[in-house]
Amino acid sequence: MNVQIKILVLGIAAAFAFPAVAAEGNAQAGKQLYEVKGCYSCHGYVGQGGREGPRLTPVLPVEAFVAQLRSPRTIMPPYMESMVSDREAADMVAFLGSLPKPPDHKTIELLK
Ligand code: HEC
Repeated sequence: MNVQIKILVLGIAAAFAFPAVAAEGNAQAGKQLYEVKGCYSCHGYVGQGGREGPRLTPVLPVEAFVAQLRSPRTIMPPYMESMVSDREAADMVAFLGSLPKPPDHKTIELLK
């Protein structure tokens, strides 16, 4: 295979690979966004919930997550598309979805 054909094949492969990644969101970017957009102030740094916001894990599906941002059910401030894009919301869903579940307290040796 010559170089041009190899590049073309890689380009086509990448075109197929990347939309899937984009749809899933980027957890690393989501972690930063979650802090930059101020979510942590009410929901805690790892979505564990705080005084003003409920626990966010296990995370909602992207559609429901975005719906809550655009028109919050009660007292959460709304985040319009200009403040948090759908893409950024998907990144935050990926971040929250990547967090490990806390262990059952019954499995903690000290507490047995
Ligand atoms: C001022 C505090 C505050 C901030 C800041 C905030 N939230 Fe909330 N959030 C809440 C409260 C309170 C609720 C409970 C429902 C409501 O009030 O609409 C909530 C609910 C949610 C829910 C629904 C949880 C569920 O299980 O139904 C999601 C998802 C959510 N917030 C995500 C976010 C994200 C992402 C951000 C940052 C872009 C954010 N919130 C910023 C207070 C906040």
